[in-house]
Amino acid sequence: MEFFLNLLTSPLLLLASVFGLSFFYIFGLTVYRLTLHPLARYPGPKLAAITDIYLTYYAYRGSRHLAFQRAHEKYGPYVRLGPNTLSCNTSTALKAIYGFRANVRKADFYTAFPANKKTVNVHSSIDKMQHARKRRVMSHAFSDQAIKSLEKYILANVRTACRLLGGKKGGENEPWNAADWCNWLVFDIMGDLVFGKAFGMLESPANRFAVDLVGNAAHRHLIILFRKIAAQRGQYMQYSKAQAMERTKMGLDVDRRDFFYHLLNAKDPETGKGFSMDELWGESNLLIIAGSDTTSTAMAATLFYLAHNPATLQKLCQEIRNTFSDVEDIISGPTLSGCAYLRACIDESMRMTPPVAGALPRQVLPGGIDIDGHHIPAGVDVGVPHYALHHNTDYFPRPFDYVPERWVSDPAANPLHNKLPDAHAAFCPFSIGPRGCIGKGLAYVELTITIARVVFMYDLKLAPGSTLGAGRKDLEFGRTRATEYQIEDRFASTKDGPLLQFRPKNS
Ligand code: HEM
Repeated sequence: MEFFLNLLTSPLLLLASVFGLSFFYIFGLTVYRLTLHPLARYPGPKLAAITDIYLTYYAYRGSRHLAFQRAHEKYGPYVRLGPNTLSCNTSTALKAIYGFRANVRKADFYTAFPANKKTVNVHSSIDKMQHARKRRVMSHAFSDQAIKSLEKYILANVRTACRLLGGKKGGENEPWNAADWCNWLVFDIMGDLVFGKAFGMLESPANRFAVDLVGNAAHRHLIILFRKIAAQRGQYMQYSKAQAMERTKMGLDVDRRDFFYHLLNAKDPETGKGFSMDELWGESNLLIIAGSDTTSTAMAATLFYLAHNPATLQKLCQEIRNTFSDVEDIISGPTLSGCAYLRACIDESMRMTPPVAGALPRQVLPGGIDIDGHHIPAGVDVGVPHYALHHNTDYFPRPFDYVPERWVSDPAANPLHNKLPDAHAAFCPFSIGPRGCIGKGLAYVELTITIARVVFMYDLKLAPGSTLGAGRKDLEFGRTRATEYQIEDRFASTKDGPLLQFRPKNS
């Protein structure tokens, strides 16, 4: 009793006691995490076993994907990368964790990403029932028929973007930064599809500020402690709300069958309910964030790899120019889908540089899960890092070489044909299962139309003097491969370059 009374009267004693207790707590926790924790038997960096600061540091640097890959190279397919985080680098783990029957839910990590103050969106909802309802309503906007009705807005923006490449501003001898061009094009498409009008980034530099707002809104996902980013997310939210309000005023004009139209109209077949206004805004925000950085990274990466691999570029030009005689014939449909080499070039680019490169965390539910002979108990966060899996030699021999042929089904044209089923099982740029990307079909429409039109219209090459690689100054581990398109993993990704020149074909 006397001791407690002394505590209250002596600030020094109080401080010493708090310090002592904290020390014992941290010491005890550290010992527990290193010895008795269910993940204690898994290899990995010791610091990561003790604290989440390890991965947060790499998230801050934008190189979390490289940290995952390096850890798997060093420690094997199962690595502990956080006190409660197990990273798995096999295609069986991919199915077990993300497949339709997986006994997991999205990890608490996703609570950092509410749609707005009042609601969660289809991506951030953790509750499986809530997610299923939202996904059912949203799937109307992504049906084949809906995407076909969106195509005219995509085409209008792709036309503008392709015209610019041959124009005076960035024409023949003036290099274009492909990352910028792709960002502006994809944002304009998403603005058109979601808010009823393009952001106007392609044609007006004053409108390009939202690229950074969106990139940073996504980065907040990974490092929720950083204030500046949180503030920019707020700015983006305000901006998107204004856009959504404007689009709502346009109402259900039947001539404008964009995402908003489909989302306003859609009803869950099971409950007969559509989205509330708050949900509508939340989902619109999400579509801009989820559909822009990702698609533009895949597009810029494809241009990067084509420019760095002239033989591949020539083969692709041949395919596209022999298939189409007029650029306006390049629209979605069987002829474009029949261009197998085009699809192989895009897929190989997403394999080498997956736009969502890190691991998507899932929490194991009661009952646990069994993967590759490992029993993983409830409560543990598990994930498969896309970049690491896409460079795993069990599925992708010559992992750091750009080989589109590995995706070709004709054995005579594919030197790695015996690995094709393994490659398909491990290829996951869009993730898989019930939480896999709902926009995959739309992304392929944007990517195939844009890349096919660019190579149909132009001969492209790296600008003279442009350095190989994305020109990063700090060459940390994994950044030195000059023929790899380097990105910063910010949940989605940011990128720079390459600098390219375009010359109208036959000129
Ligand atoms: C190359 C382009 C794209 C890539 C690589 C990509 C990748 C992904 C990945 C990996 C996920 C899973 C995220 C997670 O589990 O946390 C995802 C989910 C999602 N994506 Fe995409 N995405 C792309 C394009 C798009 C587009 C164009 C849209 C829409 C316009 C879109 C909308 C969504 C939505 C709404 C989700 C959440 C789905 C759910 O939880 O049910 N994505 N995407």
